[in-house]
Amino acid sequence: MNPKICRLERSDLLTLISWAEDEKTLIQWCGPVFDFPLTLQQLDVYFSETEKDLPARYVYKHVTGDGKIAGICELGNIDRRNEAGSVCRVFVDKEFRGKGIAKELVGEVLKFGFGKLLLNRIDLNVYTFNAGAIKCYEELGFVKEGVKRRSTKLGNEYWDCSIYSMLKEDWK
Ligand SMILES: CC(C)(COP(=O)(O)OP(=O)(O)OC[C@H]1O[C@@H](n2cnc3c(N)ncnc32)[C@H](O)[C@@H]1OP(=O)(O)O)[C@@H](O)C(=O)NCCC(=O)NCCS
Repeated sequence: MNPKICRLERSDLLTLISWAEDEKTLIQWCGPVFDFPLTLQQLDVYFSETEKDLPARYVYKHVTGDGKIAGICELGNIDRRNEAGSVCRVFVDKEFRGKGIAKELVGEVLKFGFGKLLLNRIDLNVYTFNAGAIKCYEELGFVKEGVKRRSTKLGNEYWDCSIYSMLKEDWK
């Protein structure tokens, strides 16, 4: 694994709270998993899953040379019976965007999922307006499967979400 990328630790959870500055950001980043405002209590339950013997969730962080967390990416919904999982909760701190960090993080998570966990399918959901994230996923080779229309309601707005996937043989 890339030396800048390693497993997220419990002591890192406060950084995630600082990223969830408003409800739109939190939903765009995490979908409906958390309620705004994000709290340590919610993250505690979320993180506990990563500490089990056979976790259904792994969270990786990208750490800068001076020890800051530049971004994270989860490989979640691990379904060992069907050899499937999902890339989710991808976030790069504003200070570090546009430097290829998301691409690097998701790329490493794919390597882990296909190479170590021997998954056969990895999918993800992304809101259709999220051009930056979509570019990153398409460049990595994710294939669009379809759109779940009006999957999320925020205030008076409905958001559509695209479903992308990668199969082991698509992974390079
Ligand atoms: C989406 C996000 C993770 C991208 O992180 P990043 O580290 O800036 O992305 P990268 O630098 O790896 O970019 C990968 C590619 O997408 C492009 N890209 C990134 N953000 C973009 C944007 N807002 N608009 C257009 N293209 C963008 C980059 O130019 C790069 O293309 P290139 O390889 O041709 O240069 C980051 O903007 C973010 O954290 N957003 C808020 C949370 C979020 O939306 N998460 C995704 C949930 S599905």
